[in-house]
Amino acid sequence: MSYKYIFVDRPAEGVGRVRLNRPKALNALNSPLMDEVNEAMLAFNGDAGIGAMILTGSDKAFAAGADIKEMDGKTPIDMLMTVSLIERFDMKQLSKPVIAAVSGYALGGGCEIAMACDMIVASETALFGQPEINLGIIPGAGGTQRLTRAVGKALAMEIMLSDRKLTAEEALRHGLVNRVAPLDEYMDVAIGIAQKIARRSQVAIRLTKDAVNKTYEMTLEEGLAYERRNFLVAFGSEDKAEGMRAFIEKRRAEWTNR
Ligand code: CAA
Repeated sequence: MSYKYIFVDRPAEGVGRVRLNRPKALNALNSPLMDEVNEAMLAFNGDAGIGAMILTGSDKAFAAGADIKEMDGKTPIDMLMTVSLIERFDMKQLSKPVIAAVSGYALGGGCEIAMACDMIVASETALFGQPEINLGIIPGAGGTQRLTRAVGKALAMEIMLSDRKLTAEEALRHGLVNRVAPLDEYMDVAIGIAQKIARRSQVAIRLTKDAVNKTYEMTLEEGLAYERRNFLVAFGSEDKAEGMRAFIEKRRAEWTNR
């Protein structure tokens, strides 16, 4: 499959990577680009040889937001009748973990699609923000929700209301990102985490991701019941039998993902 706005590769065994490639527009997220991202991620998700995915941009820009030139002149009805950015990047359909490897600008929709991933690894030069306020609009792809949950209400308000940008170190301190690494290392860090995931039982990985995501919006009691359900499902897997036997026999488990 050849794409116009993205590069797709497998940087390590079991790891699928999608790189945004619209350098002249700092990877602004226009509709065809998002369609390509969705298609490539869904293809990796359905590929038994892939256990984890990486979504990344360039060293200069992860993504500078939704494409302002595409949105200019659009009415509410135009936007209503268009498939939205978040619908075009449907993380709910991805049962395999996705790591955002972020360097440079992660603004507006760029910050929002990074936050929609399961983890974020940032380069020291990463800059996170929701500058929609400068355009007279508000975040439209999850920013008011995911940023607030990640960094807390007071800081999220400052970021969204006054266009305060977060450096990588600040993002780490406030729990928005998992790791920060030098520019020439952040991709290797992301690949390393993805490889660790890909080497595990894919049955257990899938059930874990599902339990965290599905219960995120439930009450604790509902969440505990859902976790219990997935815990019991895991007990029916061949990987559970193998994992426990391998531990007792002091050897490495051989996962069959069954
Ligand atoms: N949409 C469309 N084009 C964009 C873009 C965007 N979000 N961000 C940058 N570009 C384009 C610029 O128009 C410019 O193109 P031309 O060379 O054709 O003029 C090119 O990328 C380079 O940008 P700059 O010259 O502005 O580069 P800079 O280094 O001076 O500044 C920047 C970089 C601070 C990221 C600046 O480009 C900027 O502020 N971009 C807009 C960021 C923004 O507002 N994002 C939110 C978008 S709205 C949104 O995302 C809504 C939502 O929640 C879904």
